[in-house]
Amino acid sequence: MVWQRKDLLGLEELSSGEINLILETARSFKEVSSRQVKKVPALRGRTVVNLFFEPSTRTKTSFELAAKRLSADVLSFEVSTSSVSKGETIVDTARNIEAMKVDCFIVRHSVSGAPWLIARSVKAAVINAGDGCHEHPTQALLDLFTVRERFGRLAGLCLAIIGDIRHSRVARSNIWGFSKMGARVVVCGPPPLIPAGVEQMGCEVTYQLNEALSQADIVYLLRLQKERQRENFLPSLQEYSRLFGLDDSRYEGIRKPFFLMHPGPMNRGVEIKSALAEQSNSLILEQVTNGIAVRMAVLYLTMSGRR
Ligand code: CP
Repeated sequence: MVWQRKDLLGLEELSSGEINLILETARSFKEVSSRQVKKVPALRGRTVVNLFFEPSTRTKTSFELAAKRLSADVLSFEVSTSSVSKGETIVDTARNIEAMKVDCFIVRHSVSGAPWLIARSVKAAVINAGDGCHEHPTQALLDLFTVRERFGRLAGLCLAIIGDIRHSRVARSNIWGFSKMGARVVVCGPPPLIPAGVEQMGCEVTYQLNEALSQADIVYLLRLQKERQRENFLPSLQEYSRLFGLDDSRYEGIRKPFFLMHPGPMNRGVEIKSALAEQSNSLILEQVTNGIAVRMAVLYLTMSGRR
């Protein structure tokens, strides 16, 4: 399998072979981060631009470190002090930066489809770092990588995604990714936070938390996205936490061995009791560590594979 794409915009459009190629490439890059000199010359002379129109801790830092570990130059574009604040469009912004001969844009935006709009307007590679409620492909890829590293496989496993599926780009990318790789995906949350027809993406739906937890090899908790709750889908955070939060009694009631995952940032005390995130079956920080290798793979493939 050879990487043919200019961009990485979502997992919906990738084949299982392409996902596998990214995971295998990430596997070969993972050891670079445990070296004393954490650098290989794979992208020396290339320039990567972080174009984040929404806040980020993990994704932005991880892409920056990944690019630097491949010896690329990295520019972090400051939206708040740029001409975007004077009304410049995202396409004009990207095309002007591209005119300075950059090779790749990492784009995060609150509007679904924004990275796609940029991708069709520039020759540089575009990687989606999270667009609205649509997709967050590199998050799902690092989740796939983490699970495959733990279990040695993906096919046949059951991933239970709990929480606000409606507003979650992480859930969408993970449903595409895990189902394409042969895993079962069960989504669970309050009915107003499960979009109608989500089963058509290849997952099952339950509104009973205990039913989802009892089947899962991996319990994947989502952050309740307060900033995207434009309508009153929930009576209160306390109500959500009481009915769908992972607390001691629900945790101890799970009979099957399972791993716990969360994309971050966590709302401790809402979707998860704080101490549970620190248990030995928590893969939460391992996900963050693996994000570097996965993003190195995506940068490497999109910038050097095709052309
Ligand atoms: N998981 C994730 O996207 O985290 P950030 O918002 O901190 O990048």
